[in-house]
Amino acid sequence: MIQRKFIVTAGPTREHIDPVRFISNPSTGKMGYAVAAAAAGRGFETVLVSGPVALAAPEGVRLVKVVSARDMLAAVERELEDGASAVLVATAAVADWRPAECAAQKLKKRDMKPCISLVRNPDILKTVREKAGGREKLMLVGFAAETNDVIAHARRKCEEKSLEFIVANDVTEPGSGFGCDTNRVTFVYPDGSTKLLPQMSKHEVASRIVDEILGL
Ligand code: CTP
Repeated sequence: MIQRKFIVTAGPTREHIDPVRFISNPSTGKMGYAVAAAAAGRGFETVLVSGPVALAAPEGVRLVKVVSARDMLAAVERELEDGASAVLVATAAVADWRPAECAAQKLKKRDMKPCISLVRNPDILKTVREKAGGREKLMLVGFAAETNDVIAHARRKCEEKSLEFIVANDVTEPGSGFGCDTNRVTFVYPDGSTKLLPQMSKHEVASRIVDEILGL
């Protein structure tokens, strides 16, 4: 594999309802920060585009902090502007929907309605694939954190998002959920084949992911 820049998305996104309320998810960013550390540790230029988490940037990694899915997409697109060959490892738990409107000031409960209208967020992987052209320029690796039918969902996402492979895990399994220091993942490839890894630390999983990318 030729020298490529690593771009890693990590953590949750926040989709604000007003300045003090948002829609989000429990992602802590541990898996993404470990992937960035592994890529930088191998000497690759590495950029970590991260939603709000409580982790410090790993050594040798350039951290770009974002809040919403649209911020995350814009930051990734900026990183691709130089036209250099890149690999995007998308570990972020991106919110698929955002409130149709974000109030400029804190909403008062007497003014709030019991329903929030939502609109779809862009899909970061699909958007950059459409804009960046073929895999010589951009390789895409996704994640699928599922609660059921893990491999079937992962296969569908791998195909729909034109990924090199997707890293699937069952977040309901002990030792694999949000915030854990360990993970048990399966690599799922575009032809539908799979490679199951034993449970290991997220740092070891990250290292295996980088190995897999370098072997493609
Ligand atoms: N992803 C993305 N942009 C989004 C949503 C997801 O780039 N708006 C990426 C994630 O970072 C991950 C992969 O797509 O690498 C799968 O994300 P996931 O949330 O599991 O899948 P969805 O596309 O949201 O599909 P579904 O709602 O059917 O689970």
